[in-house]
Amino acid sequence: MRVGPSSRVAFKVFASETQATEPDLSVTVNGLHMPNPFVIGSGPPGTNYTVMKRAFDEGWGGVIAKTVSLDAAKVINVTPRYARLRAGANGSAKGEIIGWENIELISDRPLEIMLKEFKQLKEEYPDRILIASIMEEYNKAAWEELIDRVEQTGVDAIEINFSCPHGMPERKMGAAVGQDCALLEEVCGWINAKATIPVWAKMTPNITDISQPARVALSSGCEGVAAINTIMSVMGINLDTLRPEPCVEGYSTPGGYSAKAVHPIALGKVMSIAKMMKSEFDSENYSLSAIGGVETGGDAAEFILLGANTVQVCTGVMMHGYGLVKKLCLELKDFMKKHNFTTIEDFRGVSLEYFTSHTELVRRQQEAIQKRKAIKKGLQSDKDWTGDGFVKESESMVSN
Ligand SMILES: Cc1cc2nc3c(=O)[nH]c(=O)nc-3n(C[C@H](O)[C@H](O)[C@H](O)COP(=O)(O)O)c2cc1C
Repeated sequence: MRVGPSSRVAFKVFASETQATEPDLSVTVNGLHMPNPFVIGSGPPGTNYTVMKRAFDEGWGGVIAKTVSLDAAKVINVTPRYARLRAGANGSAKGEIIGWENIELISDRPLEIMLKEFKQLKEEYPDRILIASIMEEYNKAAWEELIDRVEQTGVDAIEINFSCPHGMPERKMGAAVGQDCALLEEVCGWINAKATIPVWAKMTPNITDISQPARVALSSGCEGVAAINTIMSVMGINLDTLRPEPCVEGYSTPGGYSAKAVHPIALGKVMSIAKMMKSEFDSENYSLSAIGGVETGGDAAEFILLGANTVQVCTGVMMHGYGLVKKLCLELKDFMKKHNFTTIEDFRGVSLEYFTSHTELVRRQQEAIQKRKAIKKGLQSDKDWTGDGFVKESESMVSN
């Protein structure tokens, strides 16, 4: 039976954790309550019990575990699998890291172990939000089995990885589904008929119009969308060896780009999804989780101003550690205090209305120029006073 968005929210109500004078960072998304909107994005920072426990202990609002599939034996990683871009350095080891490419696959740990760890975490942290990220082949029974097994651990929600750009699409998984709206609709149909907890669809930016698959996912029963996964990239070519990076036995393969350099692209994609959601889906039942290059509270505020309910961080944690969440919370609170916002809802989505078409920008600018010209209409010099127009000339220089 297909279970619609409104009937699958989790009902958990907690008292506000913050004092009246401090901005309240807590959010409730699809019925899931989090002390703050900061969520660990699927990847190395959610790869096993030890690191996920650490994330909860440091205060992350929620954790999305590394993506799991039924048969981890098919997942074979290589090393090195990361390559980094440094600002203004052209290869120098000193520049600030602004871009990160990975050719890492989904979790290569046996599913049974990952499930055991999800269960243990939920037993130890019953009030904290743990979200499983899953991916399977184009096979209804496989998706159903995976959803069933993951739900039995007690996780709060499921994120579907429709977006991994490398390795998995070779097996018709990940971005291969997220880039094909017909396939996506069919697979989302299977998933939403089976799942009994909220489902978020994680979208790939490697597509012309990301709002199209996001619309398909939401109309096919998902409660939320998450964006973006990494951007298909080639980090560079070593000018001494003439081999691409990251270099594995002399060869490479295009990978996924993340970190600060992708933030403006992520803002663009999130804006496009948020506009579509605002006009077609009610914000009570559908949620948006934004991801891409977040390292400061300001980066997160930008996503929320566009309409995001939660903000995920992956590479930022790999670079700065789990303690980053404390800085993110402080900086987001500072931003809220500056504008007298007391809750996240006070400013969620307020910047979205300031995006319009280029034609509209031209119209607005011409109108503004006309207004400025009208203001300047007053006499430029005392020699310009005339006898006949004296009263009108006087009025042209009155301010009210
Ligand atoms: C090393 C690495 C591994 C990742 N593995 C996964 C994964 O297993 N599943 C997934 O949905 N996203 C995965 N991602 C993508 C991130 O969750 C995130 O969408 C992307 O990196 C952009 O956010 P960021 O700039 O905060 O890292 C991975 C990213 C990195 C850097």
